[in-house]
Amino acid sequence: MTVSFGTDASVSPGSLGALVTDPEFWAGDPYPTLARLRREAPVCRSAVPGLWVVSRYRDVVAVSRDPATFCSSRGVLPMDMERDLPEVPGALLYVDPPEHGRYRRLVNPLFSTARVRRLEGTSRARARALLAAITPGETVDVVSALAVPYPLQVIADLLGIPADEWPRYAVWTDHMVAAASGVTPDTARVLAEMSDFFLALVAARRDGGGDDLVSTLAQARLDGAPLGDGELMMFFGQLLVAGNETTRNLISGGLVALAEHPDEWSRLAADPGVVPRAVEELLRWTSPVISFMRTATRPALVGGVEVGAGDRLLLLYPSANRDEAVFGPDAERLDVGRHPNPHVAFGYGEHVCLGAALARLEARVFLEELLGRFRLLEPAGKPERRASEVIAGIRRAPLRFVA
Ligand code: HEM
Repeated sequence: MTVSFGTDASVSPGSLGALVTDPEFWAGDPYPTLARLRREAPVCRSAVPGLWVVSRYRDVVAVSRDPATFCSSRGVLPMDMERDLPEVPGALLYVDPPEHGRYRRLVNPLFSTARVRRLEGTSRARARALLAAITPGETVDVVSALAVPYPLQVIADLLGIPADEWPRYAVWTDHMVAAASGVTPDTARVLAEMSDFFLALVAARRDGGGDDLVSTLAQARLDGAPLGDGELMMFFGQLLVAGNETTRNLISGGLVALAEHPDEWSRLAADPGVVPRAVEELLRWTSPVISFMRTATRPALVGGVEVGAGDRLLLLYPSANRDEAVFGPDAERLDVGRHPNPHVAFGYGEHVCLGAALARLEARVFLEELLGRFRLLEPAGKPERRASEVIAGIRRAPLRFVA
């Protein structure tokens, strides 16, 4: 069945919010409907009882900067509304202040811009090797050839685990994502394998003095005590999942965007100094995370609309990132030199992305290597988008690289 989502007047403003909680909505072109939402129903009810949709930049920011009123501990994904949340210590996304700050302070230094810069050499080598395997003129699925292996290899380097085993880590992360909606015997087996792998590494590196991430966390102290196995596993699992699919879709979505906008590619090719701004623009443009959720801890006003205690709010990052009130009349245009560019692709406030510096480094290095090797990118078929209201996923994207 083909699902079509009206952007015309036949969909009343009151029904617009119902569209966005349907994963299929995100597999098409959501932007005309998001523009209508911002204009006509910026804070509105969704099809899910008790779940509001927040689409304007200023409201997304206002909710994100007030974790006392809009908490994360009652779930951050719509599917969390239907399940009991496991009480796992250290699950950053699900912890509220002040507890959240204790864990964040522990890991923030490991992801600082200076620390992450140490990965530049190996990341460049990874990008170069993947791009070297591409034959100019041939049609390539950039998702499987580039966007899947690259972030997994970089995270492996960060953790200090063998990067050539990335297909194994891909299986682990897929099962971790699947486990969020229910644990099957197969998922349980794969997650046990992952847990055994990391706990053996931790045991081997507790006294080793290495400075990779596993060694650092294995030797870390929280209030004077070493981290427990559960906390360590939660950190490693989060890093693998959070740092993998997100960056994957920035790379694949970014490549598709540049292939579809040859003028913007030419601007970049003519002046590689624009690359850091292009990275920000591709983050804004692709918004790899579609939404995270918050729960109101008390009655509150959001964008002038009254929400009750216990109500949920779905923050739509792709919509905030195209908000004309912030990005001007050309908000719907890809502009690789855009500046300033205060996008919220990494979220905002207390839970702002821990891996932002790493993702920026990965994307910059990748673009620099790409521009150094190829003259042009061309679309070679329609990209297949994934139906998900959480991750702006691309399953397959055929492109041609011109030398
Ligand atoms: C383009 C790539 C990425 C995007 C678009 C992205 C997006 C986001 C967003 C929107 C949040 C906010 C969550 C919230 O407010 O509830 C977040 C949090 C987080 N991200 Fe990323 N992320 C990316 C890459 C990474 C990488 C590479 C890592 C680590 C290796 C990472 C680890 C995390 C963690 C641990 C959190 C939770 C932080 C907290 O709750 O304090 N992310 N990310």
